[in-house]
Amino acid sequence: MTSRTRTLARSAAVLLALTALAALTACTSGTAATKDTSVAASSTTLRAAAGKFGLKVGVAVNTDRLDDPAYAQLTGDEFSTVTPENAMKWGLVEPTEGTYDWTAADKLVAFAQAHGQLVRGHNLVWYQQLPTWLTDAAPKMSAAQLSAILKAHITAEVTHFKGEIWQWDVVNEAFDDNGELRNDIWLEKLGPGYIADAFRWAHEADPAAKLFLNDYGIEDAGIKASAEYAFVQDLKSQGVPIDGVGFETHLDATYAAPDLETQLAKFAGLGLDVAVTEADVRDQLPVSKADVATQSDIFAQTMQACVDVPQCISYTVWDLDDKDSWIPQTFSGEGAATLYDDSLKPKPQFTAVQKVLVKAEKSAPQRSK
Ligand code: XIL
Repeated sequence: MTSRTRTLARSAAVLLALTALAALTACTSGTAATKDTSVAASSTTLRAAAGKFGLKVGVAVNTDRLDDPAYAQLTGDEFSTVTPENAMKWGLVEPTEGTYDWTAADKLVAFAQAHGQLVRGHNLVWYQQLPTWLTDAAPKMSAAQLSAILKAHITAEVTHFKGEIWQWDVVNEAFDDNGELRNDIWLEKLGPGYIADAFRWAHEADPAAKLFLNDYGIEDAGIKASAEYAFVQDLKSQGVPIDGVGFETHLDATYAAPDLETQLAKFAGLGLDVAVTEADVRDQLPVSKADVATQSDIFAQTMQACVDVPQCISYTVWDLDDKDSWIPQTFSGEGAATLYDDSLKPKPQFTAVQKVLVKAEKSAPQRSK
């Protein structure tokens, strides 16, 4: 093959792939797309269906995109709770020590209030997205210094939003996959007690907010979930003000989290609320039609798991649409993890979740207020 014929062959292959992708997109846009040719709320919104039995359905919001009317409309119409995808994280709210910038987070809270939505505050303590002034200085700090900084941060943030946050993810991803507490700056300097302290400080600043420990991988009945369960049980027995456990539920087309319902019920058995906090189902791109069906089934199963456990008070998807999803930057070659495609058309995954909620309207256990 000459270089020219190679180029032509390549162009033809690209064209074919694009045509196939277009056809796939058209067909995967599904039944909802035939009704909603423009961006509009579905005939039965997720929030209305889930609201019949008191379940909140949420979405992680990129606050920059709230300026896009189509993005804002779907966010407001379909969901009854919002989580800032990044806007409340430490590195964003306190880029310089002691100087807070609440602009983006306040914008989301105002949006939520205008749309009758509750807010999941995310997050107060994590090992990622910390400001560099902190990560640079932390290794040289004494435990007392770092502890004072942690307390000041939690108190300032929770106080700023006092009365406006329904659930706070107080500590995020505190456990490693091996079932040990994550060996991050917090554990290294402060020991395991930093977690109980964080909950106590958050509770002092806003006694009405529901305080959550949030993690990934606890959807599985494995070593990590067992360790985290024992840890939470211990927090409860010490009287630490913890109200709930968040199950991130980042899944993929080859992994459906079959233990999710059992795990939600198990943690709820400790007298806690539980929540699905960051649901998404990714796949290798481009996604085959068969995989779209699998992703839809997995989304439906996770929603069903939450619906069936009365203490599961909210189900949040992580990012509204595929264009905005964190997956392509994080998992190479993967994407298509959300309920809406790049042009904000609902995908079969949306219809699958909606169907579970509509079916549950009459039979699902009512959530207590
Ligand atoms: C992700 C955001 O979606 C990205 O935009 C950001 O670059 C990194 O963080 N678990 C969490 C979330 O608890 O805060 C993460 O969000 C996704 C994994």
